[in-house]
Amino acid sequence: QNQEANNLLNAHEWLTKLYHHLLRYTKEGKEGLHYLKERGFTEEIIDTFQLGFAPNSKDFTKKFLEKKGFHPQTMVKGGLLSVNDSSEYSDRFRGRVIFPIRNHQGKTVAFGGRTVGNGDPKYLNSPETELFHKGRLLYNFDLARPEIRKTGEAILFEGYVDVLAAYQVGVKNGVASLGTSLTETQAKLLRRYVDRVIISYDSDNAGIEAAKKAAKILKQVGCEVRVAQLNYGMDPDDYIKEYGGERFRQVVNDQSSTYMTFMMTYLKRGYNLANEGDRIQYIEQVLDEISTLDKPIERDHYVKELATEYDLSKEILDRELAQRLKKRG
Ligand code: CTP
Ligand code: MN
Ligand code: MN
Ligand code: MN
Ligand code: MN
Repeated sequence: QNQEANNLLNAHEWLTKLYHHLLRYTKEGKEGLHYLKERGFTEEIIDTFQLGFAPNSKDFTKKFLEKKGFHPQTMVKGGLLSVNDSSEYSDRFRGRVIFPIRNHQGKTVAFGGRTVGNGDPKYLNSPETELFHKGRLLYNFDLARPEIRKTGEAILFEGYVDVLAAYQVGVKNGVASLGTSLTETQAKLLRRYVDRVIISYDSDNAGIEAAKKAAKILKQVGCEVRVAQLNYGMDPDDYIKEYGGERFRQVVNDQSSTYMTFMMTYLKRGYNLANEGDRIQYIEQVLDEISTLDKPIERDHYVKELATEYDLSKEILDRELAQRLKKRG
């Protein structure tokens, strides 16, 4: 590994410790600690995930890194400092709760910083660097890996906070895709460890769209997909806060929908099924989805369901499906 990457890793390690210490034990970090406690996080979780606070200062981090002998230019490349047109360096993360983003070996390679108020942007994350390739990394994979192995399942969340909230109520096989969409690289990584992935994204429009995309990618790489459906508008953290861990576990484990059930619910959103034209389009789309299922038994199950629900001839639906299967080869 090259020298610059090594320096950056060291800088991230120092800052993880510094920010965590400030949050936990100092006046500078009080705001952050208060914020996390208000949100219901325990000290144990704060310590396990090394949550921290970056002081609201333009040069606190800069001075710290300088004293440790790090080159400011390298720190800019690593997304830890900013630089302006007159080559003045300053702190990138200011007045934010810090979520260290660990690579799969457990080393911090980036930070996510959340405002404690209503600042904009809500989350400021490290940019892509030579240490941090967002699309290749799953948040919390290092801690979740043993649990993922043990259960043969992984739960996929949108954000850090959801991973932590779930972890706090004992659901420890959760990872997050960081940002909007799961990549094929991330999906393949999960596939190496599990047969089944349970998607638990936010139940808002953006989350539902993202869940559909993630489901397709996971299915393509050979994972069995389930989708946990929460009350509309809630995310997993909200849900746990409202109903507790026990009910969250039920929603995720016992009540999650299969890929097809989720897709049927999803597709219905786009159509007015009382309208005949819409209904036909909907049915064709569902048949398209059924044709992507690998197991004949599964396909038959959903064709039957479709035939019954819309009072159609099973034979005709089977014929339509056969055409689609032939096209797929
Ligand atoms: N995210 C981001 N930048 C933003 C908004 C979101 O990088 N401006 C990423 C973060 O990783 C965040 C995830 O997308 O954790 C999910 O976003 P969102 O649902 O808006 O945030 P929550 O995780 O619900 O965070 P909170 O509960 O603190 O509002
Ligand atoms: Mn600690
Ligand atoms: Mn969201
Ligand atoms: Mn959310
Ligand atoms: Mn949230």
